[in-house]
Amino acid sequence: MLSTAHEKAARARDAADPLRQFRDEFVIPPHGAGEQLYFCGNSLGLQPRATRQALLDELDDWGQLGVEAHFRGRHPWMPYHAEVRAHLAELVGAQPEEVVAMNSLTVNLHLMMVSFYLPTSDRPAILIEKNAFPSDRYAVESQIRFHGFDPATDLIELDADEPSGTISLAAIERILDQHGKRIALVLLPGVQYLTGQAFDLKRVTDLARLKGCVVGWDLAHAVGNIRLNLHDSGADFAVWCSYKYLNSGPGAVAGCFVHERHAQAMLPRFAGWWGNDQATRFRMGPEFKATPGADGWQLSNPPILALAPVRVSLEIFHRAGQSRLQDKSAELTGYFAGLLETELPHIVHIATPCEAQRRGCQLSLRVKGPRDAGRRLFEHLTSNGIVVDWREPDVIRAAPTPLYNRYSDCLGFVQAVRDWAA
Ligand SMILES: Cc1ncc(COP(=O)(O)O)c(C=O)c1O
Repeated sequence: MLSTAHEKAARARDAADPLRQFRDEFVIPPHGAGEQLYFCGNSLGLQPRATRQALLDELDDWGQLGVEAHFRGRHPWMPYHAEVRAHLAELVGAQPEEVVAMNSLTVNLHLMMVSFYLPTSDRPAILIEKNAFPSDRYAVESQIRFHGFDPATDLIELDADEPSGTISLAAIERILDQHGKRIALVLLPGVQYLTGQAFDLKRVTDLARLKGCVVGWDLAHAVGNIRLNLHDSGADFAVWCSYKYLNSGPGAVAGCFVHERHAQAMLPRFAGWWGNDQATRFRMGPEFKATPGADGWQLSNPPILALAPVRVSLEIFHRAGQSRLQDKSAELTGYFAGLLETELPHIVHIATPCEAQRRGCQLSLRVKGPRDAGRRLFEHLTSNGIVVDWREPDVIRAAPTPLYNRYSDCLGFVQAVRDWAA
């Protein structure tokens, strides 16, 4: 057993947590007579209590107003996507016109590559990290082939150069020095899904743009997790999903950023009527003239029932405030890492970088010992109501999120690992 001093300290931290009330705004899944210790916000965030009512409100508006709800609903559907814009921009450090909530992540990635991956025979390549999330890899390979190039030569993969499988800035510099002139697009993750490593968006973007590359970011594991300043980073585009740290529900409407400098650009794009100039959209004319900014990449009218949870969630982030969330996240994950290092040094190894600025809240853990030890620990945790996830070949991911996790959750996790080892 861990000492009562540990328990007292964790409880004291929970009591002093300025964000502690936010936990009550979420539905914590039950485990037996108690609650799960939920560390899986990196995969599917928990349900905000307000989401149910927001959905019922939309159903009622539909029921009571029919098509008129486009203009007379509590949250009129016609400008609905614009209702989430301000909070979305605030969350990712962008100007309002630079962001839009639409589609899903991989769809947005393809739409962005249609506009921003413009390969030539001199510069045909895309740079991604080795072990990139499979969907990103499939998307970039298919784009390379679509343009008549060959992923065997034109997909360049950035190897990990640090012992735990993470990537140094020096390695990024080296690969850009070596291949930069051939690279049309650099597509990297804000936070790498397997290792939990956070990248310095601005420094990497600067390095890549110096070599003449276009830069896009997959922020699936970064949005709602680390502080983002997308506009200042200078990135050309970014995409993300909203079902992880953004707590907007399974398959939720995703997000997209297009830097202001492209707001009016005549880029190739796949078009749809909702991206057409808002002033003339309903004249139903044959000509497409893109709305300036990220809105111009929209295809369809927004799915209101899917956007309502995004609106609810972003409002919670707005109230909690970026600074408080970042402060708690660094402290909570630092506390968790400290406990793992002092109480379980012989059992788990933390693959995620230890420097606070090189990680968000996710810690990727490898279990020491026989090959199947990691999987066995994962199963033990799951059957005891401690929800983490397993990523092949050998990683347990655990993410204490600042909106609903407690210091005592981290202690409970460590206690469960000790019980398993004993
Ligand atoms: C890093 C990363 N990229 C892409 C995706 C694919 O997202 P979607 O299925 O929403 O397109 C995921 C999903 O978890 C992811 O983690």
